Amino acid sequence: MKHSELIGYLVKKVREELESDSTGHDWWHTQRVWNWAKSISAREGGDRFIIELAALLHDIADWKFYEGDETVGPLKAQEILKTIGIESEVIERVVVIIQQVSFKGAEVENQLGMSIEAKIVQDADRLDALGAIGIARTFAYGGAMGRKIYDPEIQPILHQSGDAYKTSKSPSINHFYEKLLLLRDRMNTDFAKEVAKNRHIYLESFLEEFYKEWNCES
Ligand code: NI
Repeated sequence: MKHSELIGYLVKKVREELESDSTGHDWWHTQRVWNWAKSISAREGGDRFIIELAALLHDIADWKFYEGDETVGPLKAQEILKTIGIESEVIERVVVIIQQVSFKGAEVENQLGMSIEAKIVQDADRLDALGAIGIARTFAYGGAMGRKIYDPEIQPILHQSGDAYKTSKSPSINHFYEKLLLLRDRMNTDFAKEVAKNRHIYLESFLEEFYKEWNCES
């Protein structure tokens, strides 16, 4: 099968899997990440096929929905790639990317030695956590996980470890400080850094307006 046919098959499969998600990790999120990954790759290089496979599968089974288990996603991705006949060397590269891309807490650095392909998929995923879409996804996720919108008595926490981040029950507004506002300075590629700038400003103006309304200021 040609690469384009394999991608087409994978798109169908991933879409089916993510169809009923209402946490902001739905098919449309994956589609945007896939599109961003292609745009970033057009400027920054990397193996396009690997990038597309990893982008399409990056949220196929996120640890957030499997009690923090980070092995489910990579395993599921591996299975799907096997069933569509992808060679094992390619599968291995894709699985490593899926293991590396997710955000694991404010004080947890990116893994060293990430490939250009991993950096591009990570940037694509992080761009979708910023701006208007990022805000919409944050509240959708918060609601689905039983988090409050905001509680002025609960301070944001800069998580020191992946485990502390995973079990956090912080209100959604705190998530801006615990993750979203940190992403601009953690982009890997110049292109994503550029796109992140405006989206970051948008987050800041949203917060400003939010507090104004919270305090019933006109
Ligand atoms: Ni994602």
